[in-house]
Amino acid sequence: MTNFILGLETSCDDTSVALVDRSGNVKAIETVSQYKVHSEFGGVYPELASRAHLEAILPVIESVMGTARVATSQLAAIGVTRGPGLMGSLLVGLSTAQALGMAWDLPVHGINHLRGHICSVDLEVKRLKYPAVVLLVSGGHTLLAYVPDEKTYELMGTTRDDSAGECYDKVARTLGLGMPGGPALDRMALTGNASIKFPRPMINSGYEFSFSGLKSSVARYVDTHEGLNVNDVSASFVAACIDVLSSKVLRAVQDKNPKTLAVVGGVAASPQLRSRMQDISEQTGVTLCLPPIKWSTDNAAMIAMAAWDYIDQGIITDLEPRPNLSLDQA
Ligand code: KG4
Ligand code: ZN
Repeated sequence: MTNFILGLETSCDDTSVALVDRSGNVKAIETVSQYKVHSEFGGVYPELASRAHLEAILPVIESVMGTARVATSQLAAIGVTRGPGLMGSLLVGLSTAQALGMAWDLPVHGINHLRGHICSVDLEVKRLKYPAVVLLVSGGHTLLAYVPDEKTYELMGTTRDDSAGECYDKVARTLGLGMPGGPALDRMALTGNASIKFPRPMINSGYEFSFSGLKSSVARYVDTHEGLNVNDVSASFVAACIDVLSSKVLRAVQDKNPKTLAVVGGVAASPQLRSRMQDISEQTGVTLCLPPIKWSTDNAAMIAMAAWDYIDQGIITDLEPRPNLSLDQA
């Protein structure tokens, strides 16, 4: 029985390998994070990222297959991220997948990382129903999309500068909270008072985002206030960021009247964002689809899940790395 897809994700700084069955159950998953490798640079250093993927990927595959006690004869296919992402990092995943596909005589599907994030809501429980509005908020991307059916992805708006996750990470760095910034900021914000009025860039205009002004405003505040309360700055920043995200999501839901609202990507691990999205769901009646928190950030389970969908829909892709792949391309 060919029960599982082996998913590989190496687009940025996580080497992740997973085995996922057709119903979205995750049989096994291991993710090796490179935060320590990049922490001294304050961001992901591409050359080091690909080298770290190269070191990690084969042992992680062996470990996942071994702990799950899955034989290669039980695999239906391999799904691997082909973009968007860092060229060198993508190449490690793609060349590994092609070599294993040849050795094990398996089809290999190149997957769009952004579509993988959307598929994360169908892990464990099938949640997504069409038409859907999607908010994707990660370190690499911030976008709103309308997905009328399983094959059509319409970009409503994206960011003009920083992504929301990038903004979280940079503000966390300004506050000396280290990497990864999002979870640390969220924790600090929980006990803070959102009393500082940071700007809410472009909150009333369309579906485009802009976060660099908010980031600079926090940096200016930190530079000019001695003995500031880090919890209050964190809470005020998170409030500004989530106000912007939620006002646009609310407008998109009111405009498009979708069946489901999916909120995906690393920042979707934020309890504050989750709770605000729940408010929108209650206010508008749209069904909210969130991935399990552990699969909001980059992981190979969502890539394997997307590969099952590509197979079902007969989507054929090549296995070239596509650093700038957009949501409307498979
Ligand atoms: O989806 P992801 O793992 O990678 C990309 O595709 O970019 O997202 C990573 C981003 C980072 O910026 C990280 O700070 C943010 O997600 N993040 C969070 C939380 N956990 C991760 N942001 C806010 N709250 C969190 N709990
Ligand atoms: Zn991602």
